[in-house]
Amino acid sequence: MRIPILSIIFFCMAILTTGVAVAQNAQFNPGAIWADNNGTHINAHGGGLLYKNGVYYWFGEHKIAGEAGNKAIVGVHCYASKDLYNWKDEGIALSVSEDTTNDIAKGCILERPKVIYNKKTGKYVMWFHLERRGEGYGSARAGVAISDKVTGPYKYLKSYRPNPGKLPFYPLGTPEDEKVDCLKAANERDKFFCRDLPGGQMARDMTVFVDDDGKAYHVFSSEENFTLDVAELDDSYTGHTGKFSRVYIGHQTEAPALFKRNGLYYMVGSGCTGWAPNAARWFTAKSIFGPWTYHGNPCKGNGAEITFGGQSTYILPVSGKKDAFVFIADKWVPKNAIDGRYLWLPIQFKGNDMEIPWLDHWDLNAFKN
Ligand code: DGJ
Repeated sequence: MRIPILSIIFFCMAILTTGVAVAQNAQFNPGAIWADNNGTHINAHGGGLLYKNGVYYWFGEHKIAGEAGNKAIVGVHCYASKDLYNWKDEGIALSVSEDTTNDIAKGCILERPKVIYNKKTGKYVMWFHLERRGEGYGSARAGVAISDKVTGPYKYLKSYRPNPGKLPFYPLGTPEDEKVDCLKAANERDKFFCRDLPGGQMARDMTVFVDDDGKAYHVFSSEENFTLDVAELDDSYTGHTGKFSRVYIGHQTEAPALFKRNGLYYMVGSGCTGWAPNAARWFTAKSIFGPWTYHGNPCKGNGAEITFGGQSTYILPVSGKKDAFVFIADKWVPKNAIDGRYLWLPIQFKGNDMEIPWLDHWDLNAFKN
């Protein structure tokens, strides 16, 4: 078969100008194998996205085959895309360490990495949930790494439990009985908060969010997952300021994902059932610190009661489109972690209410504007 010379020239030009191999996908296929530019299933679980200079970057946990694949053996994988359907493998952005005494030693648990860009410092800042090697899920620390280049390599800075010795900030409207007093015999609801007050609060499932004013927030499951903390980051985005609020206290919430629409903050999370799926939940608030209002399950249709088999990880605002937000979830496969699938679904709004419907296939035209 003869391939016309013009086709070869166009093919080469497309790769040279976009840096990405010619597009093959023109839609999302939630739950299907999602091949990258090399034809390999994307390996970026519990991930988050960053949009910079016309390119989306997807960061996530690099898993390996088999059950041990839920431990970090490689690090955080990065992919790049201009259209959200086709992803180019950019390699490992943050590598785990061969040094067994290092916080992020190979075999640690490094989950839900999220990257934000700091305009003031010009640095890319990656936050993640870290369980140090050999500590099971007992360390519950927030880890942070930075890079001058979006795709890395990221340099590990530190990990810790946030906000030691700090009491919560109470937004206007917080009910009096929600305020914690650790000097009184700690009640059942506040016992983990008070236990961890001196050393810092537990930080597990997490996301980060940059607000319109440039302030960044770290949102994480705390207090043995019984509470979500919304915690302000400092100007460098690499530390906590000590200002934080507690959300949905006494309920178990994991997998927080946050976005802002028409000045209203939205949060989606999950229940707490290990790797097994459960019902999602959504909240809104007029201020990021709350009070947050619980609204129940945003998913609609068959499988809605188990988030269609997935668990939230990120909500992506689509650049250049109004009211276009993609709900992103992981369909975990704990027995062979590398086979975990991705559920990307369009969020629909009715006024301020949100819904997540299941769609076998869809594309960005699902967003009207
Ligand atoms: C569910 C969490 O959302 C995941 O990130 C992970 O921590 C698993 N639990 C571990 O069982």
